[in-house]
Amino acid sequence: MQFLESFSPDLTVDSPGRINIIGEHTDYNMGYVLPTAIENKITFQFQKNGSEKTCHVYSKGYDTGFELSLDNLEISKIEWENYILGVLNEISKRTDKVRGFDCVLESHVPIGSGVSSSAALECGLAFGLNEMFDLGLSRMDIVELSQAAEHTYAGTKCGIMDQFASVMSKEGHVILLDCESMDYSYIPINIQPYKIVLLNTNVSHNLASGEYNVRRAQCEEGVAILQKKYPEVKSLRNADMDMLNSVKNELNPVVYNRCSYIINEKTRVLDAVEALKNDDLEKVGELLYETHEGLSKMYEVSCPELDFLVEFSKKYDTVLGARMMGGGFGGCTINLVHEDAIEAYVSEASKAYKEACNLDLTSFEASPSRGTSILKK
Ligand code: GLA
Repeated sequence: MQFLESFSPDLTVDSPGRINIIGEHTDYNMGYVLPTAIENKITFQFQKNGSEKTCHVYSKGYDTGFELSLDNLEISKIEWENYILGVLNEISKRTDKVRGFDCVLESHVPIGSGVSSSAALECGLAFGLNEMFDLGLSRMDIVELSQAAEHTYAGTKCGIMDQFASVMSKEGHVILLDCESMDYSYIPINIQPYKIVLLNTNVSHNLASGEYNVRRAQCEEGVAILQKKYPEVKSLRNADMDMLNSVKNELNPVVYNRCSYIINEKTRVLDAVEALKNDDLEKVGELLYETHEGLSKMYEVSCPELDFLVEFSKKYDTVLGARMMGGGFGGCTINLVHEDAIEAYVSEASKAYKEACNLDLTSFEASPSRGTSILKK
């Protein structure tokens, strides 16, 4: 792209991917989540280009870019462009202060791995434009508009967790976020001598976005039936297993399974927080395994590759717990592994995974990092 020849950025921003310790698919059910940002980030460099409406965005990783006009933010056929266009569209609903800009981005957040490269992309762009054009958006505005962009332009009716974690995280902490009240607190994460290891299946089954929206609809179906008997139930957050069992006969068995997973997961997040505060990492590990069981059997968002890795980890006393992470149907497992055992565990898991699934495994350690930030101005 021609603008690259004279590119001289005024602003550099970085925006991280995220992990989630526990609380999966609970955000859009108004439950709790326990995420944090990771060190893998997308870096954005920006310059104003002096034009009224013309913008250029270039991705170093894809080695490709596109030009757009702020007057025409139609949905694109190219997936990653939609995250950019969606954010610009949401910003345009809130302010008309954006002018022509050029942006170069470089991603170190693996795509399709359940670590939310999409939220990193949306939030970093919104954050940078807010800074450059003095848009007056708060961090929470950036979280919300990025989530809205994902709904409208990417078509995934996601919850708030990924964008919240990408923007609001603090180094060395996880965030306990109540997705009903949006109250949150930072919990220090002291897990020595254990570490958080992500094993990437390197599969990303195409089901992800469609099935995600189906899960959301199934939960809503459950709520509608619960509401007839319990008008106070606005979401699965307000329901318990006794309530659910009392309407079991009226529920499609699949919907019953979905709702029961969510109701149990809500309790598991709070139990995990207690266990973390008491340095009871074995308990945290047990809860991770329980969550995986629920996601795999009741919520049915796992896949054979993820199930294989979680089963494999159970052979190791040095692994306290493991589960699939994120939306599902591929991506990473999150594992709590003793630091002295990481090398052997990863190497044996890679070998076994290759034999069983004929795929290469990649791994990385994740440590709780800060949210979207300005690097240079
Ligand atoms: C995706 C969504 C999140 C959340 C997770 C599952 O990452 O973007 O909002 O629902 O799946 O916990």
